[in-house]
Amino acid sequence: MRTGKEIRDGFRQFFVRHGHEPVASGPLVPPNDPSLMFSNAGMVQFKDVFTGQQSRPAKRATTAQKCVRISGKHNDLENVGVTARHHTFFEMLGNFSFGDYFKQEAIALAWELMTEGLGLPPDRLVVSIFGGDQGLEPDHESAAIWREVAGLPEERILRCGAKDNFWQMGDTGPCGPCSEIHYFQGEGLPDPATLGHEPRPDGSGWVELWNLVFMQFERHAKATLRPLPAPSIDTGAGLERLAAAAQGVLSNYDTDLLRPIVDLASEIAGKPYRGTLAADDISMRVIADHARMTSCLISEGVLPDRDGRAYVLRRVMRRAIRHGHRLGIERLFLHECALKAVDLLCMEYPELDEQRALVAQISEQEEERFRATLRRGLERLESHTTGKKPGHTLPGSLAFELYDTYGFPLDLQEVIGHEQGFSVDREGFERALGAARERSAGSKVGEQAVAAVYRNLSSGLGRVEFVGYEREQAESRIASLLCDGSEVQLLAKGQSGELVTKLTPFYAEAGGQVGDRGTITSAQGLFEVSDTQAPLPGLIVHRGRVSDGTFAPGQQVRLAVDHARRSATRRNHSATHLMHWALRTVLGPQAVQKGSLVGPDRLRFDYTASRPLAAEQIGEIEDLVNERVLCNAPAATEVLPLAQAKERGAIGIFEEKYGSVVRMLTLAESIELCGGTHVERTGDIGLFKILSDTGLAAGVRRIEAVTGTGAMAHLRRLERELSETARLVKSNLLDTSDKVGRMLQRHREQQHEVKELKRQLVAGGRRDLSSQARKVGAITVLGASVDVGDARALRELADKLRNKLEPAVVALGSPTKDGRAILVCTVSKPLTVRYQAGKLVRQLAEVVGGAGGGRPDFAQAGGSNPAKLEQAVQRVYSLIASPEAEVG
Ligand code: SER
Repeated sequence: MRTGKEIRDGFRQFFVRHGHEPVASGPLVPPNDPSLMFSNAGMVQFKDVFTGQQSRPAKRATTAQKCVRISGKHNDLENVGVTARHHTFFEMLGNFSFGDYFKQEAIALAWELMTEGLGLPPDRLVVSIFGGDQGLEPDHESAAIWREVAGLPEERILRCGAKDNFWQMGDTGPCGPCSEIHYFQGEGLPDPATLGHEPRPDGSGWVELWNLVFMQFERHAKATLRPLPAPSIDTGAGLERLAAAAQGVLSNYDTDLLRPIVDLASEIAGKPYRGTLAADDISMRVIADHARMTSCLISEGVLPDRDGRAYVLRRVMRRAIRHGHRLGIERLFLHECALKAVDLLCMEYPELDEQRALVAQISEQEEERFRATLRRGLERLESHTTGKKPGHTLPGSLAFELYDTYGFPLDLQEVIGHEQGFSVDREGFERALGAARERSAGSKVGEQAVAAVYRNLSSGLGRVEFVGYEREQAESRIASLLCDGSEVQLLAKGQSGELVTKLTPFYAEAGGQVGDRGTITSAQGLFEVSDTQAPLPGLIVHRGRVSDGTFAPGQQVRLAVDHARRSATRRNHSATHLMHWALRTVLGPQAVQKGSLVGPDRLRFDYTASRPLAAEQIGEIEDLVNERVLCNAPAATEVLPLAQAKERGAIGIFEEKYGSVVRMLTLAESIELCGGTHVERTGDIGLFKILSDTGLAAGVRRIEAVTGTGAMAHLRRLERELSETARLVKSNLLDTSDKVGRMLQRHREQQHEVKELKRQLVAGGRRDLSSQARKVGAITVLGASVDVGDARALRELADKLRNKLEPAVVALGSPTKDGRAILVCTVSKPLTVRYQAGKLVRQLAEVVGGAGGGRPDFAQAGGSNPAKLEQAVQRVYSLIASPEAEVG
């Protein structure tokens, strides 16, 4: 048997022997490609190479690529766990030709590898080709190559339409006709006529193993196809399927790539895995699949949250957690399965190993969070569904409540609905969601239209030259003026708008650094720049207002950046790099940058971490940075190929594609890719001081810090506060905390005294009550109602009065703060042979509608009617007068 690893390595080695460069998997989160949520195929990292926007030294490549198919054009989520071979996360093996070989060689290589390399029996293989569709010609050429290379008879070369045999990455991007290799799994010999029938859930039947795409076109936004600069090859074979075929198992979940996670889920649940379509087996497969996606995304810094990719991850994690709950797993378990996935995948994808701790911690946190509402959410759902007929609909408002209050993603509700026989009113849900969004935020209508103006402008103008690394002032001509989202020929005094020049020293907001401010002057006027932005790569736009004269396209202008603001921003940006380095030095590489904002007044840095920085760690980071400041090391920028930068240990967000050059900044030990503006030497930063470290979201924290004059201003503010406090408490500056500590202690003692005195006052204030005591026969009796608020004060008062009147019977009543009545009765010890407090208080309590009891010398009762307290306590006189009250 071949292991998954052997198949992956064998595939790569085969293509390396045939002149292909082995390239590491691109990230799951495609950098700089908003058109795609996740990498969904091996070609994603080469997209710009196919379209000719980028070049690569090697014309052939081979990869094992991490893929996720859960949104957009390729979405397999519904089938995961149910069929034998659908996944959210999977690995795609591929070979690529960038304008080098084409169909002939691609087909020959694939056939050789399938039959000789993997040893699959040729009579179990059939192929499909593009049979023509949507105005495109059938691919007769491929059919002829298959006949010649593989000796396949006509009935084993099937012709299909665009749906099956025209591949495209998404709505836009490179695409072309394709040819697929299908393998028959199961008993007996295949009948090619049954190809296209869904495989049976156990995996028997046809499985598509390999897709050879003949990349010939690029699809643009308006669905038009343009030929690529050179016909190319992109092939993709799912590793899990290849492994199932090579290992002779029907289900991908039975291969060594996935089965260990299924087994772990079964062990945790304490239930056997039987590989059937029973609900428990499906749940175990879903957990295995989702655990792999969870680990891979977290290891790339995607953390479960409310929108975009982060929400896709949350949906998947919560589905897995709910399947665990369904299996009866009561403890946190997802992290264990996710770590198992790390074990299985980390040899190939080292980032998984580096982020092991983060994977475990985030998985645990998310499960803890969701488990807190899961049970109540399910109960809420059940209260609605019990007694309903199968096929009923869950109202949109309830679906929204489950989503909003209990954290149930909509698709999870649909999965539950599928199991329990209800459907969810999606439209109603969307309406409720829309209404909630409107309540909480403004809409973004109009952004699309504005983007078109920028695109036109940029294609006419080309790249605006940025000269701001070297200079803060420059001369140029106005290339265009915009007002309210359209190009205009004039901007007059008082008008706000955007001004674009061929060249500029103004830095446009990017990489967390804010856009520059400053002035643009012409012979006739002054334009004050309040912000600089790059709405499209290469297009730099100055936003602001004409404060004097008029501006028109073609005018010569002088651009001057606000020097003080730029300098302050520069200090903060360089300090951000040093702090990033120091943070990783103190916390380790699991502190991954999640975002930053560098402005003139402060810097902000978001990073992954499970707990707040301790005070000593903050001190350590500050020291590390300030030591580098004092070294006064030079800042060195180099422009070099990405591969070299990586080799030299540069960190940062690798947005650039292979083959492109990057800008790398070295500041003492910090080496980072960065396009921002920086100090010349670290000494220019001045003092660095952290202001705060706060939690932002689960597993993400934010540091705010200041430098230079900002640090000085901060220290002054602290000093002012302290001096003012010292003045108020009349202390020396450096003894203030001692003094305030002592004052607080005194304050606490005084508070205690005040409370004690109040109590005494209440008790003391009633002292003259003793004068109301009467003689009943030989016995001194006192019955009185007071208002002391609580039972304890009433007891103390009764004791005091009885001591004073000794021997005596005392009955007191008081309303409580919450509107009830309390009664106490106390009888001097010698008198208890005749009268018992318990018996007396019960009879008094009848009057206020209550009951009570206690010892012979002391008893207490409560009642609901405080209005009758006076009547109740007065009754004590008549009770003592009547012989029935006596004991025995
Ligand atoms: N891009 C094609 C696919 O994903 C071949 O790699 O199927």
